[in-house]
Amino acid sequence: MRHLMSPLDFTVEELDKVLDLAADIEANPKKYAHACDGKKIATLFYEPSTRTRLSFEAAMLNLGGSVLGFSSADSSSAAKGESVSDTIRVISCYADIAAMRHPKEGAPLVASLKSRIPVINAGDGGHQHPTQTLTDLMTIRSLKGRLDNITIGLCGDLKFGRTVHSLIEALVRYPNVKFVLISPEELRIPDYVREDVLGKNHQEFREVTRLEDAIPELDLLYMTRVQKERFFNEEDYVRMKDFYILDKQKMSLAKPDMIVLHPLPRVNEISTEVDDDPRAAYFKQVQYGVYVRMALILTLLEVEVC
Ligand code: CP
Repeated sequence: MRHLMSPLDFTVEELDKVLDLAADIEANPKKYAHACDGKKIATLFYEPSTRTRLSFEAAMLNLGGSVLGFSSADSSSAAKGESVSDTIRVISCYADIAAMRHPKEGAPLVASLKSRIPVINAGDGGHQHPTQTLTDLMTIRSLKGRLDNITIGLCGDLKFGRTVHSLIEALVRYPNVKFVLISPEELRIPDYVREDVLGKNHQEFREVTRLEDAIPELDLLYMTRVQKERFFNEEDYVRMKDFYILDKQKMSLAKPDMIVLHPLPRVNEISTEVDDDPRAAYFKQVQYGVYVRMALILTLLEVEVC
């Protein structure tokens, strides 16, 4: 039995297989409509979510399965003090696979140690968000045709943005990927990513503050929201929240085929005037998230569709 805690739980070859399967699902959705008949996914969300929870549920429903779960800690027995270890032992009696989001880093990993069913990390604190990474990789591969030989700018809250940490971990394994890390001084990438992921892989990267200085060279721009929920005080958040706003003027400095990604939700960091620009791919990204989660469910449940 396998769990997914980090993109590194899959080799590059396994990741490619998941992405190939997701592409086949996109092209032939009917072929997979009964692949999970009789199976259930439990979505255990101790933190708010729109895309991740509902796309896991849509994914299982598209495969013919069913869903159960909770969408906040308050509506589960966590409110009475139940541990994630006990919760997953219980959920293992009800469902075939579980997706867990938790504000504490490592909570899904703790749950996986006591689980009798595959557990997927659906976001743990400011740490990792591997299924957003699968979504991002599928979007990049589909729209750019490759995952190697790209210059990617990651912009915004690189300190707390877990999607950024997971995406860097995944992309360092592909040849000739250059990273431009665009953030205010206070929201720089954590040392463990700079040293253990970028440094150890001898990865080419540079850190800049101004988006305008970086945007002309990028093949991809990955915008992120300032993670309000991870700040210790409101004042710091208010000072940082509108540090970057991608607008038409900044887009005019970019390559004609640069694509803009964002894991969403967006607050102010991308002006809505950019939404109609053909390079804005963040809503397409949402659709890819369903296909890739369908592929992940099939992979972890070892369901083969001929
Ligand atoms: N991208 C993402 O994780 O969105 P949600 O918080 O809405 O799940």
